[in-house]
Amino acid sequence: MRDIVADDVTYREMNPDELYRIAEIHLEVLPRDFSSFLGKEFLKEHFYPALFGSSDVALCALYRQQVVGYVLFSSDESLYRRLVMRNWATMLRFSLAHLVNIRFLKYIVEVFLLLAFQDSRLHGPELVYIGVVPEFQGGGVGSQLISRSIDSLEQAGFSSSWVKTLSSTPQNVRFYEKAGFKIVRTYLGRTYLKWAK
Ligand SMILES: CC(C)(COP(=O)(O)OP(=O)(O)OC[C@H]1O[C@@H](n2cnc3c(N)ncnc32)[C@H](O)[C@@H]1OP(=O)(O)O)[C@@H](O)C(=O)NCCC(=O)NCCS
Repeated sequence: MRDIVADDVTYREMNPDELYRIAEIHLEVLPRDFSSFLGKEFLKEHFYPALFGSSDVALCALYRQQVVGYVLFSSDESLYRRLVMRNWATMLRFSLAHLVNIRFLKYIVEVFLLLAFQDSRLHGPELVYIGVVPEFQGGGVGSQLISRSIDSLEQAGFSSSWVKTLSSTPQNVRFYEKAGFKIVRTYLGRTYLKWAK
């Protein structure tokens, strides 16, 4: 698969009509992420359109015209607050449905703390989400998505970017380090990494 990946995957900007597929990939590769609790329809109808609309860079990787990976960068600091304000009723309904789930409750507290403190953000666009379907992981697609995004960010005049990832996933921390990001700090079980020109 690695040879096929290297040669036959193409990269381009994401289209809004691909957000349903992106939501599917999100649920497949990030089943434990807070947003995955909200379900495919919410991800497709609200979450990803909001992310896409506020993105500085949104790229996808294609194999035989099928999206197999994507990445989104955004420097919109009020993105999540707006998302919650606009969709609070839907989010409350999902929250009530999951209230017995300890992992979900832990996420609620963490998301609140992350939103409450602005110093939980670094300067520049945040790499908000990246995902590569399992059959293509380890083949260089994620690295390509990041290096092409960084080229686009530089062309758009940005000189830094950042990402936070769970410290409990050292393979992801390594992945970002290999892509040129450097560890800056840890906070609430997340490792923060920064890329600077
Ligand atoms: C993290 C992710 C985007 C990396 O994309 P990728 O195409 O697999 O990465 P690449 O092939 O370009 O780089 C491989 C490096 O990434 C790291 N890595 C992280 N997850 C990996 C995985 N599942 N398989 C292989 N390598 C992985 C390794 O350090 C690897 O380096 P190595 O080959 O020297 O061991 C992808 O594995 C993925 O979608 N994972 C699930 C979703 C996720 O965790 N997203 C990040 C949080 S938002």
